[in-house]
Amino acid sequence: MGLGRPGIEFGQGASVLGAALALGALLLSLFITPPSGAGAADRVAPAFQGVASCAGTTCHGRLEADGAVVRQDELKLWQEPSTPGGAHSRAFTVLNGTRAHQITATLGLGEPASAPACLGCHATPAGDPRGARFLTSDGVGCEACHGAAGGWIASHYSVGASHAANVSRGMVALDRPATRAALCLDCHFGSARNGQFVSHRMMAAGHPRIAFELDLFSTLQLHHNEDADYAARKGRSDSVRMWAVGQAMALGREMALFANPARGSEGAFPEFTFFDCHSCHRRIFDQADRVKTWEANPGRPIPAGMPPFNDENMILLAAAARVGAPGLAPRLDADSRAFHAAIARDRGAAVAAANRLGATANALAAALGNAPTGGDSAFAMVDVVAGPVLSPRFTDYEGSAQGVMAIDTLLNALVRQGRVTTGAAAGIRANINRAYAAVKDPNAYRPGDFRASLAEAVRAIRALR
Ligand code: HEC
Ligand code: HEC
Ligand code: HEC
Ligand code: HEC
Repeated sequence: MGLGRPGIEFGQGASVLGAALALGALLLSLFITPPSGAGAADRVAPAFQGVASCAGTTCHGRLEADGAVVRQDELKLWQEPSTPGGAHSRAFTVLNGTRAHQITATLGLGEPASAPACLGCHATPAGDPRGARFLTSDGVGCEACHGAAGGWIASHYSVGASHAANVSRGMVALDRPATRAALCLDCHFGSARNGQFVSHRMMAAGHPRIAFELDLFSTLQLHHNEDADYAARKGRSDSVRMWAVGQAMALGREMALFANPARGSEGAFPEFTFFDCHSCHRRIFDQADRVKTWEANPGRPIPAGMPPFNDENMILLAAAARVGAPGLAPRLDADSRAFHAAIARDRGAAVAAANRLGATANALAAALGNAPTGGDSAFAMVDVVAGPVLSPRFTDYEGSAQGVMAIDTLLNALVRQGRVTTGAAAGIRANINRAYAAVKDPNAYRPGDFRASLAEAVRAIRALR
């Protein structure tokens, strides 16, 4: 596949936030469970069956991809040790390592492998009832994404089974961009549920920051073939749509969590995880010649000296909207600006503006889910990303990392659409890699250099049109 990998990492450091997170530990009570009222017993949710239930050698545990309908070696790919494709099977194991122990020791959360604050993302967030073969130690298992299998495990391979019938029995319709985005974002951004949020305090204790782009990350964990059979059952997947809807859903999720009192604040502070990390984590200079380490950003009216909200998804969604839903693009721009400005006023104003921006993001998710993506639309999106309106908004690391992932994804989409040959795409790989290199080390990030390398990559793609 030859996809570039975002080199997103930052210098890890143990913080001196020694105070035990006693209240937090209480709040992050048991686990992620479907809402269970008084009559939970007679309203039994489909059971989580465990990876072992999918892994039979006549099921998804074959060594060769020789299944008639699906590959059937999905288990092997999910476990692949050498690639990101196997990351979900390792998600629980990392909780036994030194880094995980440093994090939980700093926060007073006890053993990571049994800490509810970690298991919501590093294991299958299974409610009850759980089948006898369910193991938390399986990590992010098949059912974490495909849904609890109790309702459909017996019927999904029977003659006459259809995707619609499986979905009606509880299988998650991952072929739908919005459904897939909502699911991945639970762990690759966060959710309001217990155990699915990486706070700044966790990052300060050593948790890596989280970067995500729906289409690129889907490709990185891909374990199915999109053959004619798949297309007949589910339709062809569409990378441009996946990317665009992914941006809208991510922004919607950010706004919902920022507006949520339990997530948006931490003590008397706003939750720092929503803001551009390097706006606070910079060197300071006190000398006659002023050293300015930040750049003003035309899309983000926030007074100097205040941390700007991380606007990575606002920028890329603005690009998608201009091409795929131009009627909504001005509203997105206005709501984004109003949100940034409101943060400088007070929390009430910021929450109201977040709700408006969130509603616009949701409207865009719906519109982009139906917008045509063929013709020159992917080329047009590439142009907008590095064009005169959006390019000056790449002033920070997070947005820039998202920008290069967008270019990578859109180029791959052009290849899949047959608009660009594999050879031509390989020929400009070096340009894309230079753009990735400009976001390799967050501490060495320079906005001007990044914009130059992005523009060069975009010029190379434009030449293929
Ligand atoms: C919102 C979901 C979420 C929560 C909650 C969460 N994590 Fe993570 N964690 C992730 C994701 C996603 C990654 C991978 C980040 C990346 O590389 O893009 C990760 C990566 C890690 C890594 C690095 C893994 C590696 O391969 O090097 C460690 C260690 C870790 N998490 C420990 C923890 C601990 C300990 C907790 C609880 C205090 C926790 N995590 C809570 C989502 C989460
Ligand atoms: C991180 C989420 C995730 C995990 C974990 C996961 N899958 Fe998938 N799987 C997907 C996505 C996304 C697709 C592609 C969209 C689709 O067709 O549903 C997919 C596709 C498939 C397909 C092809 C479906 C078709 O119609 O052709 C099979 C079969 C499958 N997965 C089985 C498994 C099995 C078995 C496991 C566990 C060993 C597993 N998956 C783990 C997300 C996941
Ligand atoms: C239940 C939580 C959960 C869900 C749902 C989930 N992931 Fe993950 N994912 C993780 C964790 C945790 C890691 C990090 C594991 C590690 O590094 O050990 C991860 C890692 C990954 C990686 C490897 C990243 C890297 O830098 O190596 C990819 C790719 C990925 N996920 C894609 C997806 C996609 C696409 C979806 C939605 C279809 C998805 N994930 C859904 C928890 C989840
Ligand atoms: C509003 C300002 C602000 C923002 C934004 C911010 N941080 Fe912090 N960060 C702090 C403060 C304050 C500390 C605590 C410093 C101390 O303990 O001396 C800290 C501590 C840390 C530490 C521990 C440093 C150490 O020396 O132990 C890490 C790592 C970290 N932050 C990462 C991040 C990441 C990643 C982001 C973006 C997702 C981020 N921060 C966003 C203010 C911020």
